Amino acid sequence: MSDGGDISSAYNEDSVLFRVLRHLGWENLANIGYFTLPTMPVAVLAGPAPFQRRLARRSLALLQTRPGQLVLDAGCGRGDTTAQLAAAGCRAVGVDIQPAQIDHARRRFVRCTGALFAVADATALPRQAAGVPLADGSFDRVHCLEAAFHFGHEGRRSFLHESFRLLRPGGRLVLVDVTSPTEQPFETLDSTGLVRGTWRFTDIEPYAQYPLMASAAGFAPPRILDWTTPVLHRAGQLCALFAGLASTRVGRQALCLRWPGLRTLSARDWDHVVAVVRAHRAIGRDTRYTAYVLNKPD
Ligand SMILES: C[S@@+](CC[C@H](N)C(=O)[O-])C[C@H]1O[C@@H](n2cnc3c(N)ncnc32)[C@H](O)[C@@H]1O
Repeated sequence: MSDGGDISSAYNEDSVLFRVLRHLGWENLANIGYFTLPTMPVAVLAGPAPFQRRLARRSLALLQTRPGQLVLDAGCGRGDTTAQLAAAGCRAVGVDIQPAQIDHARRRFVRCTGALFAVADATALPRQAAGVPLADGSFDRVHCLEAAFHFGHEGRRSFLHESFRLLRPGGRLVLVDVTSPTEQPFETLDSTGLVRGTWRFTDIEPYAQYPLMASAAGFAPPRILDWTTPVLHRAGQLCALFAGLASTRVGRQALCLRWPGLRTLSARDWDHVVAVVRAHRAIGRDTRYTAYVLNKPD
């Protein structure tokens, strides 16, 4: 079982941050986004959604799928990446631990015949999901975009073993996650607990630990892509800009002009969201964002 935090109250309107993100245009993807330098001014005005789609595209591209392949999308959220895999001709099974996310995914992609969805814990997979047997060696690809930080250390180890078991020889896992540059306990970075409390997780994996765990599960040495700057550092710059504006009355008015939904925030909400955004900004300087391409040997 996943030993991450209690996730049942994450990703919903109980959290001021998620309410704000929805007003800023977060729709269905729930990742941080991939920001290039020339597009930063666009991000200020357009909000994060186009950049979240870009991160999803980059992550999916690492899978190098072919039509007809069977793919597990672990921690699929509201199903966008699963549906994109189906649109590329794959048979895609999206699993997520939160029933509300899977309800959304099913409703949104009811007509997308190649995309199936099931509630399941990616760290302890059932025998079948959405009628598809999760049998040893039966999948060509496994994809996991920004979900494994929820799993806890033992959950991440289990997920790597589960992925290895599911994949056929020559199959591939693409794992994209927030990682730590050191073994330093996460609570020392997030001393207020605001980041862990928002996303409901307990820790993140040291960057160098994943390849060791993957090797222990049987994977070949990974290709590693460091996306810290385009994801965390640039999102951090946007956080700093948002927190700066949201700290002043004029700044709040400007934000409300651009995103009228923010008018529903109380003064207390604004103060809370500034504290949460600043906490994210602070840990973004001490964390990494990493894509691991892990192949199961032939
Ligand atoms: C940051 S969101 C990313 C969602 C999606 N991959 C995306 O890019 O929009 C993390 C997702 O992981 C899911 N999740 C967390 N723990 C999980 C677990 N043990 N098994 C399956 N899904 C899990 C959450 O419910 C959430 O939908």
